[in-house]
Amino acid sequence: MALHIVIMAAGQGTRMLSTRPKVLHKIGGTPMLERVINTALMLQPEKIHVVIGHGGEQIKQALATFPVNWVWQKEQLGTGHAVLQALSFISEEDNVLILSGDVPLIQANTLQDLVNQHQLTPQTPFTLLIANLPDPTGFGRVIRNEAGHIVAIVEDKDASPSERLISEIYTGMCCVMARDLKRWLPELHFENEQYEYYLTEIVSFAVNEGNPLMTIEVKNKQEILGVNTRIQLHQLERMFQLTQASELMLAGVTLADAARIDIRGILKCEPDVFIDVNNVFKGESSIQGGSEIGPHCVLTNVTIGKNCVIHPHSVLEGCTIGDSCHIGPFARIRPGTQLAAHCKIGNFVETKNAVIDEDSKANHLSYLGDVTIGKGVNIGAGTITCNYDGANKHQTTIEDGVFVGSDTQFVAPITVGKNATIGAGSTIRKNVPANELTLTQSNQITIPGWKKPKKNQS
Ligand code: UD1
Ligand code: CA
Repeated sequence: MALHIVIMAAGQGTRMLSTRPKVLHKIGGTPMLERVINTALMLQPEKIHVVIGHGGEQIKQALATFPVNWVWQKEQLGTGHAVLQALSFISEEDNVLILSGDVPLIQANTLQDLVNQHQLTPQTPFTLLIANLPDPTGFGRVIRNEAGHIVAIVEDKDASPSERLISEIYTGMCCVMARDLKRWLPELHFENEQYEYYLTEIVSFAVNEGNPLMTIEVKNKQEILGVNTRIQLHQLERMFQLTQASELMLAGVTLADAARIDIRGILKCEPDVFIDVNNVFKGESSIQGGSEIGPHCVLTNVTIGKNCVIHPHSVLEGCTIGDSCHIGPFARIRPGTQLAAHCKIGNFVETKNAVIDEDSKANHLSYLGDVTIGKGVNIGAGTITCNYDGANKHQTTIEDGVFVGSDTQFVAPITVGKNATIGAGSTIRKNVPANELTLTQSNQITIPGWKKPKKNQS
């Protein structure tokens, strides 16, 4: 008895007013459907079937690398019709877990509980994930008889005023035996408020056959919230971010404001990291203990060592920062930058493919690209590696202990020998010997008697 998972994702998402299919809108930087697929994969099912229709090509393309069976639902005739499209790929003896692509925060342990409950009671054809919500608007209501047994699910749009008051709702997620789905789904009716084949009608089929239905109630109500509008997308995003912020704080991180951090990927922090307001983390990053991220930084795929300070307004991507480094304010650290311990990269310095050894500094206004810098090097303000000749990139090597005067250009490829000093304002085109002072000169002249231009009289 294998487990198959069907994820419904064919609906249009009209209320998003978007050219992008709804399930590709992102929560925490990841498309909603991708989140649901990842969660589904954690259950190690036999197969995941994703039902697509509206924007289906776009969805397939965006998530092409995922090991799922894409199932087309050409016309969106309702949730019952959506699941029916996947049934030909599933054999009778298997169980089917049904999910929605627009309910992105559902957790694997909740689904595992649902599946376990279903499998433990083999006489039950159908186990529903339900919730009790203070505001059940929009959800199908669970109708029970006097004995407390479920007799039907009534869609919000079809519900009577008294049914609308019921706070027990169907979350849209359930576990059903494939052989029952194969009998029931072709029998669904089409006459209802929305002219759709409702999957939920199978509840009454099961009840009529006299089989007991099981339910389990979701513990964390946030998990079952769906996205139909941009307002709901925003609400879920904030909930999701707050959960991640809480996890960081529980792991020993101080956040200046838990409502002003956005993690669109994975952020791992050791205890005693401090993160100031309005920081965005993308991709996978890690920060070691004692480091501090100042306000307004964007960090993408960054590894930061111990006791570093990232000053405000710095943008770091694809880089490794050693222990006790100071970056920014207003620094741009680009991919391929590797700083050893105790480096300083100051304001308006851009680095790219820059490998910089311990105790080196570039404190102001520089571009350091395709460069290897040794230990204890001082890069003066305004230093630029001219690494690009219009066709190819070239390497600059600056050995240990070099002092580079301000406003120096290195026209790569160039090697500067150990402990060399470069005079300010030099344009260095040839290799520089170790230990000596090297500079290029342009003569300073003064024009005697020169007069400042005057404004024309009009
Ligand atoms: C559904 C349930 C409702 C439940 C709610 C929970 C039905 C009839 N109703 O209502 O009881 O409380 O979910 O969120 O099942 N879809 C398709 N093809 C279709 C129609 C829908 O793939 O033809 C997909 C949608 O893209 C969406 C999911 O199925 O991902 C749910 O469809 P939607 O129309 O939003 O159902 P609800 O009205 O929310
Ligand atoms: Ca609907």
